[in-house]
Amino acid sequence: MKQRILKLVPLKIKTLLRFVKYLKGIISNYFYDAFRYVIYSSIIMDKDSDEKRLEAMIIKRYHVIEKGLSFPDTRLGFGKIAIIELLNFLEIYKKNNFNIENLSYQSALGSVDEYINFHDTNRFEIEEVIKRYTNINKKHKFNCGGTKELTKDKILNNSQANFEQFSKYRFSIRDFTEEDVNIALLTRAINISTKTPSACNRQTVRVIIVKDKNLIIEAFNIQSGNRGFGHKANKLLIITSDLSYYNGIKERSQSYVDGGMFAMSLLYSLHYLGLGACTLNWAYSFKQDLKLRKIIGIEKTENIILMIIVGHLKNQFKVPISSRKKVEDIIYIK
Ligand SMILES: Cc1cc2nc3c(=O)[nH]c(=O)nc-3n(C[C@H](O)[C@H](O)[C@H](O)COP(=O)(O)O)c2cc1C
Repeated sequence: MKQRILKLVPLKIKTLLRFVKYLKGIISNYFYDAFRYVIYSSIIMDKDSDEKRLEAMIIKRYHVIEKGLSFPDTRLGFGKIAIIELLNFLEIYKKNNFNIENLSYQSALGSVDEYINFHDTNRFEIEEVIKRYTNINKKHKFNCGGTKELTKDKILNNSQANFEQFSKYRFSIRDFTEEDVNIALLTRAINISTKTPSACNRQTVRVIIVKDKNLIIEAFNIQSGNRGFGHKANKLLIITSDLSYYNGIKERSQSYVDGGMFAMSLLYSLHYLGLGACTLNWAYSFKQDLKLRKIIGIEKTENIILMIIVGHLKNQFKVPISSRKKVEDIIYIK
């Protein structure tokens, strides 16, 4: 009887009824996420008095410096705001007696040190930076923060080695040759990545290969993390995940997990095939999201996960060191 009545109900009404049925779950679960994010992230919480939040502020700033130093055409006096903010945060960190052996703090010092050397070599005045840095720093640890010189040969040799070496030699690369990246080669990388596991093997991830230079420029006008190197990209890959394959409120974040896992496989596949790549975040407002969808023509059902730029390796280039935390510091055994 119930089935017969349901058959008579128009599709739009059925959808509306389902919406009402799930509304409580949708609101409470999204509210839970929003609450957790607002309370535990650094949006509203004081950053200066909390070692982890302050560490994050330091990492973000010193990464801008490391990145800038790795470009082949680094502009003298670059990163003015980032370096001053970094020094502010380092001073607060030290004043609060937080752990100065911390790798992020040490890497920040290493990056400022290289920033000073770079300007000193090029006889560019940065007096305030030197003065404040000398007051903070006694000595940073060797090979910690700043940039690293790499060669194409070294990357290629290691990209065919055992997994430990392979992984150790995958870097975010932001400097490429002008050589065109063949779509067939990208297709091969994407094909290798299709072996990525996904929730219930639903394989929701799609890869948009953007080869039109004007479209890449338009996309980069919205994405700010490509400043100083985006123009070097030969191809832009946009990773999306199709929401139509997900069901139930409990799967609300699953597209980002599946998309993130696929993206990592793709980075490894590109590395395996001897290409250079760098991830670009898609952490943007809904207005920017709508804008990018319109520019590229992204399906309404697809969530944008992130972007990856790709290019051929130069014979020699620099990368930010991007130091990693000690393994003991990221494991909990319970
Ligand atoms: C989700 C995500 C977003 C990223 N966004 C950017 C970005 O917008 N700009 C950029 O230059 N690098 C970006 N990166 C690259 C990171 O800076 C880089 O992975 C990190 O510093 C570690 O260095 P490595 O990849 O060389 O090991 C991103 C990486 C990830 C995983």
